[in-house]
Amino acid sequence: MINGKKVLFSGMQATGNLTLGNYLGAMKNWVTLSDEYECFYSVVDMHSITVRQDPSTLRQRARKLLMIYIAAGLDPEKNCLYYQSHVSGHAELAWILNCFTYMGELNRMTQFKDKAAKHADNINAGLFTYPVLMAADILLYQADVVPVGVDQMQHLELTRDIAQRFNGIYGDVFTVPEAYVGKVGAKIMSLQDPSRKMSKSDENPNASIYLMDDPDTIMRKCKRAVTDSEGQILYREEQPGIRNLIDIYSACSGKTPEETVKEFDGKGYGEFKMAVGEAVNSVLKPLQERYAQLEKDKAYIDRIIKENAEKADYVATKTLRKVQRKVGFPDRIR
Ligand code: TRP
Repeated sequence: MINGKKVLFSGMQATGNLTLGNYLGAMKNWVTLSDEYECFYSVVDMHSITVRQDPSTLRQRARKLLMIYIAAGLDPEKNCLYYQSHVSGHAELAWILNCFTYMGELNRMTQFKDKAAKHADNINAGLFTYPVLMAADILLYQADVVPVGVDQMQHLELTRDIAQRFNGIYGDVFTVPEAYVGKVGAKIMSLQDPSRKMSKSDENPNASIYLMDDPDTIMRKCKRAVTDSEGQILYREEQPGIRNLIDIYSACSGKTPEETVKEFDGKGYGEFKMAVGEAVNSVLKPLQERYAQLEKDKAYIDRIIKENAEKADYVATKTLRKVQRKVGFPDRIR
């Protein structure tokens, strides 16, 4: 508990261009959680270097992501928005937790297997222990809840196991985090292949709507979205393309899929796609405007970065010192 509130932690990588899927599936809901929880949203740049990055691109993208957090509506005075690499406790706790995690556990991580296959020329130890760093992220802040997508659920389970193992040996040190199961965000699929998630790293630029796409590009991508020959706007598995567009429209306009289906009853795909594009634009335009504003105010962003890093560091250090004592490191002499 911090300030009488439960703690929420989540993180996002600054690799690739953020998509509408990232926004509707995660960030949009984060905004609604900041009243109820004490929220930490990290730009997890330390996770990013598990695959090779161009340094200046990574730095730029990390800053962009932080500004997008704010542009998406996360108030940086209420939410702790910070770079993982600015708080050294992440690395320090990760080392300790590495010593409480089994090779066998990490070997079972499906994301490791996927990424190792994808980056066969660089299967480094960091890629292998990635989930331990993620556990450190979460446990440092004694997070009660972690909003994660299904792809990260296995990592969260591991985090819980590590926390329980550690607590079993040393007493109650860590809060054992739960997956956040509230109103979950919409899962947005690729516009070109609705069987796959809309991805930051899709090779086909028409597959994803990027948060910074201009209105014409968004309209064009929506018009080109892969659908089917059924000719009916129905929310069902047999029409994954249309179903995805219904999800996008509904999430952008605050309607339920059923309401959307009713609204477009008897209408053609062309008209519906236009409406989807317009709905997306109505959500992204204000975000882009706020972003442009923030981009001009370097001093403000710098202040946010500094203050939030200090705030995160304060909380993280408290946990870290406790852990260091528990495992038997000598007290610090001040
Ligand atoms: N691994 C997460 C992802 O790629 C990002 C992440 C890092 C994270 N640390 C976290 C998410 C802690 C939630 C909590 O999506």
